[in-house]
Amino acid sequence: MAKVTYVRPDGEQVIVEVTEGTSVMQAALANDISEIVAECGGTLACATCHVYVDPDDLGRLSTPSTDEEEMLDYTASPRQPNSRLSCQITAGPELDGLVVRLPPTQY
Ligand code: FES
Repeated sequence: MAKVTYVRPDGEQVIVEVTEGTSVMQAALANDISEIVAECGGTLACATCHVYVDPDDLGRLSTPSTDEEEMLDYTASPRQPNSRLSCQITAGPELDGLVVRLPPTQY
């Protein structure tokens, strides 16, 4: 289990207990966090699951794969050094307390 905080563009925080093995994208969909669209269902083909990971948490994530790196060039909101695709972040105990900010748009 990992407690993940989603920060909406207006600053509202939604805290979700994410089951180990579940992606941050899947947990967002299951909890009606509509800022995550996830059109492709997690197959690295859409970039509509874009999040900004809190810079303090970046070191806890594995580095993005080459495919994720390429897809990050297609985010609707500007890509930043802390941009990640939430379908590629899988919860585990090491991610407890993770904070991700949701971009203003995914289209
Ligand atoms: S859900 Fe499509 S790339 Fe993440």
